Amino acid sequence: MENKTVFNGFNSSEKILHHVDKLEHFFGAQKTLVVTELDLTNRCNNNCPLCVGVKENGSELTWDEIVMIARGLKNLENRGVIVSGGGEPLLHPRFIDALELLKSSGMEIGLNSNGLALDAEKAEAIAKYCTYFRISLDAGTPEMYQKTHGMPEKSFRRVCENVKLMAEVKKQTGSPVSFTVGFLTGRETVCDMEAFVALCKECGAGAAQFRPFTGDNTDVTEEFFRLREKYGDANFRVVASLQKYREFGSDCKSYGRCRGMFFSTVITADCKIFGCLHHRQEPEFLIGDMRSEKKTLEEAWSSYRKWQVYENTDVAKCPPYCRNDSFNRVLEELAGDCVHKEFM
Ligand SMILES: C[S@@+](CC[C@H](N)C(=O)[O-])C[C@H]1O[C@@H](n2cnc3c(N)ncnc32)[C@H](O)[C@@H]1O
Repeated sequence: MENKTVFNGFNSSEKILHHVDKLEHFFGAQKTLVVTELDLTNRCNNNCPLCVGVKENGSELTWDEIVMIARGLKNLENRGVIVSGGGEPLLHPRFIDALELLKSSGMEIGLNSNGLALDAEKAEAIAKYCTYFRISLDAGTPEMYQKTHGMPEKSFRRVCENVKLMAEVKKQTGSPVSFTVGFLTGRETVCDMEAFVALCKECGAGAAQFRPFTGDNTDVTEEFFRLREKYGDANFRVVASLQKYREFGSDCKSYGRCRGMFFSTVITADCKIFGCLHHRQEPEFLIGDMRSEKKTLEEAWSSYRKWQVYENTDVAKCPPYCRNDSFNRVLEELAGDCVHKEFM
């Protein structure tokens, strides 16, 4: 072959197109989000004494903000949206429109609600647009409901009726929505677990789900397995976030950084984006204030502040078994070196 000298064509506009791998990094670097928790409103119709919602400012997303967020989530190629709180999502005046918009923007939708404001119209929208729907009941009796939700017997009965309504709508519409009822376990609530499971089954829910109250390490796994054996069948599942119970007592985190924040985030009802749902409204976790800074979601997400939050997050101060914990463990493994990894 002739060893011919070639000269620079000074055609940088063409050359850049030959670095597809670099371009992929350039376009894709911000597109790490998989799941976003979205608080539509900070208003609430329950009074849970141990609520972790951080909803004191009573704020609510405007319709224009919801449109901006849905567009941003679509552009960032986010995949799942957990509509939660904050406050109670069913109270947002455009709740149904928001579900429709998020779904048509390509999102899979999960919904957490206390279920008190459910009606037939909302139930039909949930059946149509949501992948999962969880009603937070946290009681099997009115007495326990008073303790966990700070609400009277009348509200407890209403929510039980609404569980039946949702089960009926799911059946009538043939919706594949996974419909569960949630129960937070702790030393004060463990005595109601069986009454709760029996009630969920009677009301026609698809599953009864146990998770621990943050900071309460009461081990309920034995009782859970007993209830699963006794009540679980083809139409009704008894489930628990077992990985959280397993982590009780292992307060020490096996990773030093929260890499999970690039994949999972939260947008609050005052239109702010934070590094973590457990640190809503904490200034050092603020990635962007889209309302007062008049920024789009994409602008907020690509900001330098996201990296500052990442750099400044001290995971030792984070709650145990947080949402990102299990995949943070995996990401730590990935970030570490592996000797002779080329020789598999
Ligand atoms: C704050 S609520 C807001 C959404 C909605 N109002 C509801 O009740 O589901 C969001 C989630 O936080 C959970 N939650 C509330 N207080 C908690 C606590 N002390 N520990 C763990 N989870 C809690 C609820 O079970 C619910 O799934």
